Amino acid sequence: MASFKRADRISSVAVSDIVVMSEAARARRAEGVDVISLGIGEPDFTTPQHVNDAAIAAIHAHDTKYPPIAGKPELRAAVAARYDGMTPENIVVSSGSKYSLLNAFMASLNPGDEVIIPAPFWTSYADIVTMAGGKVVVLPTSADTGFQLDPEKLRAAMSPRSRWILINTPSNPTGAIMSPERMRAVGEILADYPDCWLMSDEIYEHLTYGVDFHSAYDVLPHLRDRMLIINGVSKAYAMTGWRVGFGIGPADLIKAMIAVQAQGTSGTCTIAQAAAIAALTGPQGLLAERRQSFHDRRDLVLSHLNAMDGLDTPTPEGAFYTFTRWTSLQGGITPYGDRLTTDRDFCEYILKAADTAIIPGTGFAAEGHFRISYASSTEELTTALTRMASAIAAITRP
Ligand SMILES: Cc1ncc(COP(=O)(O)O)c(C=O)c1O
Repeated sequence: MASFKRADRISSVAVSDIVVMSEAARARRAEGVDVISLGIGEPDFTTPQHVNDAAIAAIHAHDTKYPPIAGKPELRAAVAARYDGMTPENIVVSSGSKYSLLNAFMASLNPGDEVIIPAPFWTSYADIVTMAGGKVVVLPTSADTGFQLDPEKLRAAMSPRSRWILINTPSNPTGAIMSPERMRAVGEILADYPDCWLMSDEIYEHLTYGVDFHSAYDVLPHLRDRMLIINGVSKAYAMTGWRVGFGIGPADLIKAMIAVQAQGTSGTCTIAQAAAIAALTGPQGLLAERRQSFHDRRDLVLSHLNAMDGLDTPTPEGAFYTFTRWTSLQGGITPYGDRLTTDRDFCEYILKAADTAIIPGTGFAAEGHFRISYASSTEELTTALTRMASAIAAITRP
């Protein structure tokens, strides 16, 4: 029988640890076990009612034909309004911000072009860059410096092939918010590399806990002619399933991204765009309410994690993740007699002993860690973390 051969461009695109852990959790659930998933980065809130209503109204109005490829003018205008000096020509609406990332890299990278990404970073970045023919240059950061990018290391990583620096603030998985000082330091380095652009993924912009968020757009106005902001409605408005995201940047880049999108998806679902317009132009009070709720959950999760021996969890400033170092427990033996060596070992043990799904740090290019998503109810968080505490206490220390 003929066997399928994958294209080279996806040969290194593996199933992510996030998917592996979600599948393992699903399998355990199928056995009847009450597994709590703290794996996926998805708010447990529902989409606001006025947003749902706008989508239903769009269906009744027969707004169901092919969309304008770049996005509905009203939605492009609503996004542009947030960015001083931007017009609808600077905006592309895509099927999730993930698709804006793919559009951007497909539109700009030639084989071997480099994209510098501070680690830990969201798993998908590396795969998207690779699929688009680019080469990922990992720039490690550490908890000691609040996961802030080191300008010296960035300078050393720059090369004539550097095409993008991709930052993410607030960060998935660390929750770190990039300081304006660090952004300005990046700007200074970019001044010496006119062919290298800045991409700033700001999808968690509204989820910050007592630390101010600064958009690269506001901090580095002189770089706007080579900057792409990535944003969307998924996280702030609990709209992950609607698949609406945005790229915000110079018109010539946006035009190239639209050309990719024209052959990729033909644009974003008209009904979902109607919903996104309602989200951006409707009442914004829920943002503050939900932010407070995530803030409370962050504090709850931190208090549990900080009480567990052998774990080290920096305080996240935004998004809805904690990123914990567990290396003091590495080499320990579980009550099942297994030695904990890798991040996956640790997370599989927690799944088995605490019926809780968490994600290995290796998936974020940062070994020795695990990520918890606290976008779950306080009851679920409390139960899961209480179970985790018992499981961790049962490890025989190395
Ligand atoms: C950092 C980051 N960027 C982008 C996305 C994608 O969001 P969406 O495609 O739903 O807009 C995610 C989702 O987890 C994310 O964590």
